[in-house]
Amino acid sequence: MKTEPIYTETVKVDPDNIAQADGVLARTGEILRRGGLVVFPTETVYGLGADAKSPDAAAKIYAAKGRPADNPLIVHIAEPSCAEEFCFTSPLYYKLARAFMPGPLTVIMPGKGIIPPQVTAGLDSVAVRCPSHPIAHRLIELAGVPVAAPSANLSGRPSPTAAEHVIDDLSGRVDMIIDGGDCDIGLESTIVKLEEDGAVLLRPGAVTYDALCCVCDKVSISPAVTGVLPEGERPPSPGMKYRHYAPRAPLYLLEGNDFERLAFMHSMKDENCLFLCYDTEEAGLGEKALSIGGKTDYNAQAKRLFACLREADAVEAEKIYAPMPPKSGMGLALYNRLIRAAAHQVIKL
Ligand code: TXA
Ligand code: MG
Repeated sequence: MKTEPIYTETVKVDPDNIAQADGVLARTGEILRRGGLVVFPTETVYGLGADAKSPDAAAKIYAAKGRPADNPLIVHIAEPSCAEEFCFTSPLYYKLARAFMPGPLTVIMPGKGIIPPQVTAGLDSVAVRCPSHPIAHRLIELAGVPVAAPSANLSGRPSPTAAEHVIDDLSGRVDMIIDGGDCDIGLESTIVKLEEDGAVLLRPGAVTYDALCCVCDKVSISPAVTGVLPEGERPPSPGMKYRHYAPRAPLYLLEGNDFERLAFMHSMKDENCLFLCYDTEEAGLGEKALSIGGKTDYNAQAKRLFACLREADAVEAEKIYAPMPPKSGMGLALYNRLIRAAAHQVIKL
């Protein structure tokens, strides 16, 4: 569906001074209640929100992003107990909520048929998340409706972690953009699906596998988190089958030790390429190097990753090379995004 350009209002809100913003957030909540589209910051990435109970408003999200209709949306709520209205909750949900909500965790549970199929993509489950970002939290509270919100990027592009990214992708396609500065975490929320006897990790994020294991007796990791699903197998989360987080240029993950990676990068200096590297490695690589953060500072790397991928587009690099992250802790979330941005292309050094 093609959308006619609409006027997009952009307002800056200081997340540290939220009381001052009640007027503008109340007005933004009104836009949501009337079926409009609003972009707001969360602690993970910016979200593109609409009233989750309105089929027409949800349909506008798909049109604005160019998102495939079979990829469901996360429903954002102000308090964990708000999920009662449209989900069959469980003691495990409240255990997770006590530990991680509000915060970067999304929980998938059986739905009660109240959230329209335009949001759930016709699935009988609903994904809920209760963001901790003060702007997101207050906006959802003032809107008084659950807010369906995917990441606020054009479908397939890296998720936006700053208002400029949103403006690049969605200006003229949404009613309002709230600029609340850079997102703290920079990668999307951890997603778990609750099953009879435990939780299945579908998308790794800042709530790590180890943290989940401290709360749930049984946590399994979906094979789609690290690998490719066998041909014809249905992914547990529809979004897993799409190429994601992708810069325009092909991206390759470099697997090898630091010495091998440095030698590789120095040998490729004549290519029109960009090296994502650690902050100590930029010297001698000139403009081709883009630091992603300290070597073991995975939180800093997570915060910068999507901005780096957008930067690679801006400088029109023809190839991008990035170091292979470890598959544990926050490294697993980085690995999951990078391996998909790379369409699984790994160079073994
Ligand atoms: O941090 C985040 O989660 C951000 C912010 C805005 O909250 N949102 C976000 O939404 O990343 P999105 O739409 O980009 O990713 C949501 C993922 C998709 O892969 C989708 O397939 C999956 O969640 N999903 C949503 N509902 C689902 C369901 N009922 N069953 C399985 N997967 C579901
Ligand atoms: Mg997304």
